[in-house]
Amino acid sequence: GSEKKEDAKKPLRVATNATFVPFEFKENDESKEYQGFEMDLLRAVAKEMGRDVEINNIAFSGIIPILQQGDMDIAAAGMTVTKERAQKVNFSAPFYESKLVILTPNESGIDSADAIAGKQVAVQIGTTGAQYAENQGYTVKQFDNNSDVIMELQVGGSPAAILDKPVADYFLTQDGKGKYKVIEIPNTKSEYLAFAFNKKDTGLMKQVNDAMAKLKEKGEFQKLYKKWFNT
Ligand code: ARG
Repeated sequence: GSEKKEDAKKPLRVATNATFVPFEFKENDESKEYQGFEMDLLRAVAKEMGRDVEINNIAFSGIIPILQQGDMDIAAAGMTVTKERAQKVNFSAPFYESKLVILTPNESGIDSADAIAGKQVAVQIGTTGAQYAENQGYTVKQFDNNSDVIMELQVGGSPAAILDKPVADYFLTQDGKGKYKVIEIPNTKSEYLAFAFNKKDTGLMKQVNDAMAKLKEKGEFQKLYKKWFNT
């Protein structure tokens, strides 16, 4: 009926945690503009669907609950597809292959993943990095935002962080240039980042997957990828 039609025109309610450079971030606290690969991709997808977006910046750990409650339509938060999460939400086709790494200052004396044992590791609450660090039995210090995890390294609070490789790599090209290094963790598996949806919203998920496929066909996906990852 007519109600459904109007519904389709409402802006997509997007949940993100805009502290994850270069996927989603703001230049500063006052900035209204969301930047990053995933934000660009999301806007391109919405445009393809003829929908506007309304982006909401919330805690990463609150994103799955808010989708489940039906208060947001889509999560665009660098979220890794995991079995546990897939019991609570549906995931789109993945748009990035990632994996966990260690980020540490050059002079920390940490030269391998083994060297982390007994040291304090900074992680973002609710992330795969936090889960990994806990499973390894590391001493973890948890932060609401990924920007605070990086800050923790900068102020010397913790000597290392565990986070997604593209985020650590990007930091090395920006503020971390010449001062930080990325250490691979042996035997870690690839993680696939995707948009997430309420389980009942399979129609929306299909539209998003179709739109992403179109963007790939047109080469627009590749353009955005190159813009942010320079490859
Ligand atoms: N990929 C990791 C995960 O899913 C980290 C995501 C953090 N995202 C963010 N917007 N801060 O757990």
